[in-house]
Amino acid sequence: MGLCSLSCWRVTMVHINLSLYEFCVLSYLHAFHAGNHADVIKHLCWLGVINYLKKKEKPFTVYDTHAGAGCYALTGEQMQKNREFETGFVPLAGINPQSSLLSGYLDAMTPHWENLQYAGSPLLAANALRAQDNAHFMELHPTESEVLTQVIRGVAKGNTHVHHRDGLEGVIALTPPSAKRGAILIDPPYERLNEYEAIPTTIRKILQRWAAAQIVLWYPLLSGRAGRKAGASEAMVSGLSNVGKTSFTAELRVADKHLDTGMYGSGVMVINPPWQLDAQLHEALDEVSKHLGPSVSSTINWVKKESNS
Ligand SMILES: C[S@@+](CC[C@H](N)C(=O)[O-])C[C@H]1O[C@@H](n2cnc3c(N)ncnc32)[C@H](O)[C@@H]1O
Repeated sequence: MGLCSLSCWRVTMVHINLSLYEFCVLSYLHAFHAGNHADVIKHLCWLGVINYLKKKEKPFTVYDTHAGAGCYALTGEQMQKNREFETGFVPLAGINPQSSLLSGYLDAMTPHWENLQYAGSPLLAANALRAQDNAHFMELHPTESEVLTQVIRGVAKGNTHVHHRDGLEGVIALTPPSAKRGAILIDPPYERLNEYEAIPTTIRKILQRWAAAQIVLWYPLLSGRAGRKAGASEAMVSGLSNVGKTSFTAELRVADKHLDTGMYGSGVMVINPPWQLDAQLHEALDEVSKHLGPSVSSTINWVKKESNS
């Protein structure tokens, strides 16, 4: 059993000792959802952004504001609870993909999957980085952050840091990077309604200090069952259309939107997207949809085609 596996097991074994505040804010554990359809679209997009940055030898810096534990044990109690990976990564494992982005994603994930693990966004990034690159992974949950530290220690090549801190506060403090080349993944749990307001505020602050930041923002698509959260993602994305930057959304819908569906899909908004990422995602998501089933579909929509800056 590798270090990553040991760390994954610790997530379920370490006694979770949180303050009342932390308990309320940090009730989400990604292990219950690892490898689901939302991870597929998010990780495909994040890998596409990193691949593009690697086209130049110049170093870059990636930031992950809500990094999670980094690696999740397939056999762990939490992943087994709802087995969400069965309608996400499982139908893709072992296929012979046509899309180069999907092929790269499967190449990155397969060694972990064969080890009965699903790799989270920081592990995906850490594996992809080169010696000259930098990474800041932020995670507020104490146990998740502790596990992430161990997971990343096993693979880190470049200048890689795990921070036990608030990611929205941290990304402001740590940007811009000195070379001003890089990207940010914002992947909150959206457990609280005020996250839908805090994120646009943070994105505006980032862009004021680092106009060229490439930002990937993941969001859920929620039906009426989600109460006040239904429609909140759409409002957040629409509000971000006026930040003055080129941006598009890619969405993967896995069910029809009706009252009972809850989360019927999810999307990523990419601000300052790399050239042709929209086309790469379109091709990859088309292929993903075919494998995930007849009720699955994807769309790409430009929010703003030309940058004002
Ligand atoms: C959706 S999960 C992250 C999954 C990860 N990005 C991936 O794709 O593998 C969200 C994470 O954010 C953490 N979190 C919640 N609020 C946070 C905050 N304010 N700052 C940093 N992390 C936070 C949660 O503990 C959880 O681990």
